[in-house]
Amino acid sequence: MTDLLRLNGHYSPTSNIKIKDWNKYINFFIKKYKICNKDNVLEIGCGAGAFLLPLYKKNINCFGADFSRELIRHCKKFLVSKNFYVRDAINLTVFKKRKYSFIFANSLFQYFPTQFYAKKVLDQIFNLTDEKTKIFLLDIPDKKKYNNWKLSVIKKIGQKDFSIKYKNTKHRFYDKNFFFDYCNKNKYKIKISKQNLIKKENSKFRFNVLMYK
Ligand SMILES: C[S@@+](CC[C@H](N)C(=O)[O-])C[C@H]1O[C@@H](n2cnc3c(N)ncnc32)[C@H](O)[C@@H]1O
Repeated sequence: MTDLLRLNGHYSPTSNIKIKDWNKYINFFIKKYKICNKDNVLEIGCGAGAFLLPLYKKNINCFGADFSRELIRHCKKFLVSKNFYVRDAINLTVFKKRKYSFIFANSLFQYFPTQFYAKKVLDQIFNLTDEKTKIFLLDIPDKKKYNNWKLSVIKKIGQKDFSIKYKNTKHRFYDKNFFFDYCNKNKYKIKISKQNLIKKENSKFRFNVLMYK
């Protein structure tokens, strides 16, 4: 698991997740939503499979997409399966032949280039759902907390390193209304909660979204 967390970018000066906390995080969903081996679980932006590994170990059917060929190669090595695809989040048609009880995207939405792109990804995800599917968009950077987040990172790594680190990989922060409006338009229910499910430095600047019929 340490390797998978490292490959998925969870060890850095601004994030350092303990394996115990990570497993607790995933087990929260397994227990609360009674995820079992009859369920198909899809993760968009699965990377090397750190989020899916605890589910895979419980014989739950795991599927995943990530645009990094290298990370999908690792994912297939650790979670021995053909269900992992090199795909951009905006192109999920390969998953259309199945229905999924749960679709997760953890620490993904901050990497999207525009909000329009994020909307297109939501369109793709909604295309894979049925009446029972629950969609979890986790760890979304909160626009209201952008300034506090920036100050805290600068305090930690300094202005110069901040500019270098986020020059090409700008993190996208979201207004919660973006998700509320999307669900209203598509007649989905939505719950937005604090990201207090995992202990890590930047959780206080993030929120979680649950969408369901
Ligand atoms: C911080 S990692 C999180 C990985 C995993 N979800 C987890 O929680 O451990 C972000 C992942 O999103 C992937 N990613 C970023 N933008 C993407 C996109 N547009 N389409 C598919 N994958 C993307 C990256 O390659 C990376 O694996």
